[in-house]
Amino acid sequence: MKLVIAIVRPEKANDVLEALYRAEVRGVSMSRVQGHGGELERVETYRGTTVKMGLSEKVRLEIAVSEPFVEPTIEALCESARTGEVGDGKIFVVALERAIRIRTGETDHGAVTPVGK
Ligand SMILES: Nc1ncnc2c1ncn2[C@@H]1O[C@H](COP(=O)(O)OP(=O)(O)OP(=O)(O)O)[C@@H](O)[C@H]1O
Ligand SMILES: [Mg+2]
Repeated sequence: MKLVIAIVRPEKANDVLEALYRAEVRGVSMSRVQGHGGELERVETYRGTTVKMGLSEKVRLEIAVSEPFVEPTIEALCESARTGEVGDGKIFVVALERAIRIRTGETDHGAVTPVGK
């Protein structure tokens, strides 16, 4: 299992959710975050030029998936979140040790995507 974490543009959030649904990925958490991708903005101050790390609004998705869904999830994210301009976002894939569905006590592959497969 993997935890796929994606940071995308807020205006792409609906497209991303639709693409994930089409890829049969059914579990997702979403939150608003502020971040920066490393680019530094030059700011003039009275003492001279300094740099500022400007934060921009992004949406963070967390998607726990079983192995067969890792690549489809990444593909859906890349296709739906991309504009080609800087700031399109990032995807981090993290090893996921355990997952538990609270209602049933199902664990691991039974507890993440796919549902009903
Ligand atoms: N190394 C990182 N660690 C954690 N979060 C990151 C990292 N890089 C980017 N992010 C998050 O992703 C968001 C979007 O990053 P961004 O798309 O600007 O990445 P980038 O590497 O600068 O790529 P690009 O050159 O396309 O802009 C950031 O605002 C931040 O929230
Ligand atoms: Mg950037």
